[in-house]
Amino acid sequence: MSFVIAIDGPAASGKGTLARRLAAHYGLPHLDTGLLYRATACALIEEGLPLDDVEAAVEAARGLSLTDFDETRLRSREMGEGASLVGAMPPVRAALIDLQRGFAARPEGAVLDGRDIGTVICPDATVKIFVTASAETRAQRRALELAARGEEVDFSAILEDVRKRDARDSERSAAPLKAAADAVTLDTSELDREQAFAAALAIAERGRRAG
Ligand code: CDP
Ligand code: CDP
Repeated sequence: MSFVIAIDGPAASGKGTLARRLAAHYGLPHLDTGLLYRATACALIEEGLPLDDVEAAVEAARGLSLTDFDETRLRSREMGEGASLVGAMPPVRAALIDLQRGFAARPEGAVLDGRDIGTVICPDATVKIFVTASAETRAQRRALELAARGEEVDFSAILEDVRKRDARDSERSAAPLKAAADAVTLDTSELDREQAFAAALAIAERGRRAG
């Protein structure tokens, strides 16, 4: 059976960083599934369409290709917010399932990170990690990222953003953010990047030996 690592968690918990490092460690391809939702929102914004246009969002999601992402643009706050709106639409989520499962089915295995990888996309993943951290820690991390990019930082606005996105992602009926019953939860609030990676690697190794 191929080696699939599913990593889920809220915004700025560090799941992307861990997914990239685990993928490099095991020599596996990595898919940041948040980019799919961001790219869907981006397509609507670029066409001047409202973000609640379900039909247009589904069409945009169906037309996505993993190779034409402009990551810098997609990582903006505006796209994160848009992603969370289109991500709440069940037909948009359905339109993105095949792309994600196809990626996970690569013969060598894969690492995917998002909100519903362990629960919906890859329920049979070899390893499932639910990465979390307090809202304050996550807002602090986002603030540092923005400051490093030379952007203005208003900590209370970022914290509010994080809380709003947590609420929307957890309370939606379509694939809400939650840990799979068989996921291992990793709280990185008190861990630096190296400690978080060491902890994630230990979880992955246990899963690999068991699976
Ligand atoms: O990096 P960050 O966690 O801030 O954002 P992201 O992972 O790029 O996800 C942006 C938004 O897309 C999330 O707030 C979710 O609403 C949505 N998303 C989702 O619904 N399902 C996924 N598998 C990934 C992202
Ligand atoms: O993908 P997600 O939105 O969950 O988070 P990320 O983009 O991987 O990480 C958010 C920020 O937190 C990045 O700047 C990381 O370098 C930093 N960070 C971390 O990932 N892990 C820690 N233990 C501490 C900080």
